[in-house]
Amino acid sequence: MARKVWFITGVSRGLGLALAQTALAAGHMVIGTTRDGVAPEGLSGPRLNILALEATDLEGVALVVNQAHALHGRLDVVVNNAGYGLIGPIEAASAQEIERQFTVNVFAPLAVLRAALPHMRARGRGHILNISSVAAIAPAPGAGLYAASKSALWALTQSLAQEAAPFGIWTTTVSPGPFRTDFLSDHSMRRTAATIPAYEASASGQATQALMARAGVQAGDPAKAARAILEIVEADEPPVDLLLGAAALTRARARLDRFDEDAARWEVLTRAADFTD
Ligand SMILES: NC(=O)c1ccc[n+]([C@@H]2O[C@H](COP(=O)([O-])OP(=O)(O)OC[C@H]3O[C@@H](n4cnc5c(N)ncnc54)[C@H](OP(=O)(O)O)[C@@H]3O)[C@@H](O)[C@H]2O)c1
Repeated sequence: MARKVWFITGVSRGLGLALAQTALAAGHMVIGTTRDGVAPEGLSGPRLNILALEATDLEGVALVVNQAHALHGRLDVVVNNAGYGLIGPIEAASAQEIERQFTVNVFAPLAVLRAALPHMRARGRGHILNISSVAAIAPAPGAGLYAASKSALWALTQSLAQEAAPFGIWTTTVSPGPFRTDFLSDHSMRRTAATIPAYEASASGQATQALMARAGVQAGDPAKAARAILEIVEADEPPVDLLLGAAALTRARARLDRFDEDAARWEVLTRAADFTD
């Protein structure tokens, strides 16, 4: 296995930390980012570099990617991992909360990959992995803006996969289900400042309660997710999509089945919308 240079955002905890540890243990070089540029506990070694990246500083993000590239003269694998969830009904979210959710989950990953692509195209190789969520494929009530941000990331990654393939660049959307990280903790998860009592007893409130009840008992193991990501990076033909965790598979399949059912049921109406000539 060739030693690769990995650039991973958000290695301070959770999936990013597990991925950085796994890539280092496999002999790769890792450039990880944390907000303060300090390595978290449990991440060290001569093949590790840590750079400071705050995802809301979009100009800074591009500079960090170029700084990372300069360290070894190449970036083989770029992982957009840093992200967070905003929960609360769509109606309750403020313009500022919505903007921040999209800045961190969409515009920052976009800034990372736009800065990385010229370097990868010049070498004719590379692999970009964007960590989305099963929520992008099967959005639930109560976290619609998080789902929308991850759907945006999913869609642009699908397009990018087709655009970048001719240049020898692989592109994968990774869509985890619930993983046992700090994602649902008060540190990471944000709630809309405004609350609307009418939603609390409805589908939105119930979904939020069910989501938060999973904190600490999520079925997904971050170390196993990291090993799965390493495996696809080493594959001859990496996938465009990787679901992680059995719950993600069940939820995505249910949504796609429903999509197929709607498409079949309304097929005549769908086809009738074309000109007849
Ligand atoms: N765990 C799950 O159930 C799950 C499911 C689907 C998708 N995901 C996705 O997986 C990715 C990793 O999440 P996780 O589960 O590992 O959650 P986590 O434990 O909360 O870790 C999130 C990481 O993102 C970083 N981050 C968040 N906002 C940032 C910002 N503004 N600037 C720079 N870094 C920022 C955090 O840094 P700090 O430590 O400084 O906050 C941390 O390193 C996220 O994109 C998340 O949406 C997670």
